[in-house]
This record gives sequence, structure tokens and C-alpha cells, in this order.
Amino acid sequence: MQHLKFINSKKNKILSKVAYSLIDKELNKYPPNHKKSAVIASLIIAQKENGFISPEIEKEIGDYLEMPPIAVHEIATFYNMFELTPKARFKIVVCTNLPCALRNSKHAITILKNRLGIDVGEKTEDGLFSLHEGECFGACADAPVMLVNNHKMLSWMNEQSIDAMIRELSSSKSNVITNKDNL
Ligand code: FES
Repeated sequence: MQHLKFINSKKNKILSKVAYSLIDKELNKYPPNHKKSAVIASLIIAQKENGFISPEIEKEIGDYLEMPPIAVHEIATFYNMFELTPKARFKIVVCTNLPCALRNSKHAITILKNRLGIDVGEKTEDGLFSLHEGECFGACADAPVMLVNNHKMLSWMNEQSIDAMIRELSSSKSNVITNKDNL
């Protein structure tokens, strides 16, 4: 409930009450004078809700955690899981490190490029998908592996599972991958 006073203190908040109640849960893990310890979790919550971290969100989180916005910005720019500009609704990252490469991750990328009609680093015209190469996700036994929206891991990718995933995400009415999972 810490967030209610803050939300009511200023109009035009970008993040929702739900987002602030999730941030409060993170804050409860730390002593009251260590609010900034919850900054990464807060940025994750904000990105899940907003899709990317804007300067306005950095300021809002900074105000809430009693940190200068530049300190929030430094965290948001240090970790490449944070997006600072609007991205595709579904960001697909395929691991290309050796164990995954040995299990055909390059072929998985080729399938994705063909299906989506984009190259690595691009996003589809409808803004639904973007495709990226990534580093080891720590799930090498499941190779080849990919991540959707930094959060949902897909293992043992092959042509069939890639097609099924594209079908499922394309028909998704909401950002199901990011919103239904627990933090
Ligand atoms: S090398 Fe791909 S998950 Fe480890």
C-alpha cells in the first residue's frame, strides 16, 4: 500500500497501481532505507508493463525509490535486458553460443528469418516480432534455446516448435508471455 500515497501525490503516472503494488512487494524484501535495492526488479516490472524504459519511467522509479533519475538510468543502460526505446511486442533472442550452435541454433535463426521476413536485429513491419542473437542463457542442456521477451524460455527448438510458437504469439490478443508469468 506504500504506492497509494505516491500515486495520489502526482497526476499522470505512467505506471499503474498494479505495477506499484508489485514494486511494493519487492521493496518489502529490503530495509526501508535501502529502497534502491529494488531498482532492477522495479525496472523489470516497468518494462513488462510499458514495453520499454523511457526517461519518464526512469524518473518515476527514481522518485519512488528516492534515487536520482541518472542512477536509475545507469542501471537501465548497464543491463542489456532493458529496452530504452519501443521494441517489438515479442522480442525473440536465440542463443548462438557453442552448445546451442552445435545443436543447430543457426538453423533455427534461418527458420525464424524466413518465417518472419526479417534479419537479425530487425523487427517486423507490424511491430509484432524482433529477432536477435544472444549469449548463453545457462540452459545448454536444452539447446538450442531461445528467449521471448527476456523471460519465457523455449527449449529444443526445431521447425515444428518454432512454427507453433509463431502461431501462438501471432494470435495472442495481449502480451501473454510477459504478463501472465510471475515475477
Ligand atoms: S549455449 Fe545456449 S543456453 Fe548455453
